[in-house]
Amino acid sequence: MFVLVNLKTYDCDPVAVATAAAEVAERTDARLAVAPPTTAVERVARTGVETWAQEVDPIAAGSNTGHTLAESVADAGAVGTLLNHSERRRTLADIDGGIRAAERAGLETVVCANDPRQVGAAAALGPDAVAVEPPELIGTGTPVSAAEPAIVEDAVSAAAEIDPEVAVLCGAGISTGEDVVAAADLGAEGVLLASGVAKADDPRAALEALVAPL
Ligand code: G3P
Repeated sequence: MFVLVNLKTYDCDPVAVATAAAEVAERTDARLAVAPPTTAVERVARTGVETWAQEVDPIAAGSNTGHTLAESVADAGAVGTLLNHSERRRTLADIDGGIRAAERAGLETVVCANDPRQVGAAAALGPDAVAVEPPELIGTGTPVSAAEPAIVEDAVSAAAEIDPEVAVLCGAGISTGEDVVAAADLGAEGVLLASGVAKADDPRAALEALVAPL
């Protein structure tokens, strides 16, 4: 299972979380990665943890003030990027452009989607993976794998129908090892989560608990 921890802009120390994640990753078969704010990508990558960007822009090098160039986050040490997160929605054309920019820079891609219909549309653009996240469950602590299992199963079918090579992650409210196992049982190849780690009193313990049953 792939456990991808998005730190969003939560008030936590990305390097401390990443250091804990790097240590936890060494003791599990699960794949563990951290997506810090863009400004912390380089410092997080230096901890040795698999590092992702939270977004890249659909641009090439040039006159793009204020944008994030895929090659820049790759140079900083990121190996993948989220795209179209529910808190950073993009047009279809920009998601497509973001995937192409990431490919150009050698970054893996996870495109976020609200529901199985959007998962199908996102899968058609050829990312490495899609993540289904019902926005109403994000940050609630109510795991999508328990509250809306059909959404996860339907997302897995929707992606497989379009492109069986596209992996499906699920997210929203995931915070325990039990949630991760439930996601796997529904056919997800990974989970995308945030508050369960970023807002935890002890992020290291939260990370350990997430991967313990894997
Ligand atoms: O990107 C992860 C996400 O939006 C889910 O957030 O806090 O429900 O784990 P959370």
